[in-house]
Amino acid sequence: MAENKTLTTQTGTPVANNEHSLTVGPDGPTVLHDHYLLEKLASFNRERVPERNPHAKGGGAFGEFVVTEDVSKYTRAAVFQPGAKAETLIRFSSVAGEQGSPDTWRDVRGFSLRFYTPEGNLDIVGNNTPTFFIRDGIKFPDFIHSQKRLGASGLRDADMQWDFWTLSPESAHQVTYLMGDRGLSKSWRHLNGYGSHTYQWINAEGERFWVKYHFISQQGVERLSPEEAEKLAGSDADYYRRDLFESIERGEFPSWDVYVQIMPYEEAKTYRFNPFDLTKVWPKADYPRIKVGTFTLNRNPENFFAQIEQAAFTPGNQVPGTGISPDKMLMARVFSYADAHRHRIGANFNQLPVNQPHAGEVNNYQHEGNMRYHFNSAEHRTYSPNSYGPAGGPVADPVAGVEASWEADGTLVRSAHTLRADDDDFGQAGTLYRDVFSAEEKARFHEVLGGQAQAITVDRIREAFFQYWTNVDAELGAILRANYAA
Ligand code: HEM
Repeated sequence: MAENKTLTTQTGTPVANNEHSLTVGPDGPTVLHDHYLLEKLASFNRERVPERNPHAKGGGAFGEFVVTEDVSKYTRAAVFQPGAKAETLIRFSSVAGEQGSPDTWRDVRGFSLRFYTPEGNLDIVGNNTPTFFIRDGIKFPDFIHSQKRLGASGLRDADMQWDFWTLSPESAHQVTYLMGDRGLSKSWRHLNGYGSHTYQWINAEGERFWVKYHFISQQGVERLSPEEAEKLAGSDADYYRRDLFESIERGEFPSWDVYVQIMPYEEAKTYRFNPFDLTKVWPKADYPRIKVGTFTLNRNPENFFAQIEQAAFTPGNQVPGTGISPDKMLMARVFSYADAHRHRIGANFNQLPVNQPHAGEVNNYQHEGNMRYHFNSAEHRTYSPNSYGPAGGPVADPVAGVEASWEADGTLVRSAHTLRADDDDFGQAGTLYRDVFSAEEKARFHEVLGGQAQAITVDRIREAFFQYWTNVDAELGAILRANYAA
């Protein structure tokens, strides 16, 4: 039988005893020069990194993406060319709850997808809803504060959630999704993902398109009843995390089909509402879904902390042939995520194995900093431009490094976007309620909203709640008022 390896300190020195501290005699005080004891306690004290501020509770897995169709007329990105394959990483999450919070609290679910492409990492950091609560990143900290906990009691609070939402009418569409069946998914396997924002694609000729990503679950979209969700919150707080891990262990690999909606570049200028407004969907009648391929999750992490907790997704990770758009939320996110990673994980977070490109290379002049692991060869210069040829270091390539672009000019202002004919806050929320929800879903929706109305303790906010839903749909408002206005 193989023998155990010898236990060592962090620097490889054999450890004689892992059960007793070094003391002055068997009953005496512990000495400060017990280097191993100090190292062990100090390492323990540093095990936790700050949790993600939103989306703290989650889980994920690795997989493979295969392109089954030909969308090369829309994008030159290598990862989307016919027949291309790429390793993927996904992280699902809840938004508001902390690390230990129950998976089955009603919430939007995060859907962060990374493609390890030969041109670098492409991250689509979306949700299981195609819209969002706000349309300007400057409101995001306030929105998340309203979903988290009160300053004094540390409790979550319906008053502040509804105060914020009713004073932010652009939230109506997303709140309709949240209070509907999508707020309680049966599992992470049973939900669709959406990039939500409008992104840009660029083809080999340099032609630009606006694009929305849809990830449609092959397992189907299923829900939990509020009763099931409440029971699971008590009996198995990690229900979604367990379900995903165990299904992959069993060899039941969940899959999603990847679709895009494509809007020709020029059409964005005259479309009937602002196509960069994240609170809106693009109707499929105007922009049908076009299939790209399929990805399958087939490999669990070997280490949750190293590969899921330290995963650093950002919508800023784009590749040649993909890019962002003038969506004000998306532009704020490009700053916010990498900043969060530097705070949460450290300056060199992108050197961790899960964050490095797996199919491409890193070549640049950035160096040093806390926990720097990779370094360049001795011949590689520390500056650019330099005259040392290939050994001196990499050079920029304007063709390979093509970036998304659009025209922009104007005076600096703090203002809502210019309104178009169909730009409003409540229209699409009303359509979702009236035309998309089934009769059963409507009935469940009324009940969920009834519970919310009863949780509000401030009359002014309850009145705003009824008005908000009346603005979504007059009949809905009347039903809620009649049943729950007491
Ligand atoms: C996580 C900021 C809007 C989806 C995060 C994190 C921050 C953040 C700081 C934690 C990142 C980390 O520590 O690794 C923001 C800001 C937003 C915004 C400032 C608005 C301007 C959105 C939107 C979506 C979204 C619109 C979806 C469409 C997610 C997801 C995660 C996340 C899925 C979890 C990422 C992961 O799995 O590691 N957000 N967010 N966020 N956000 Fe946002």
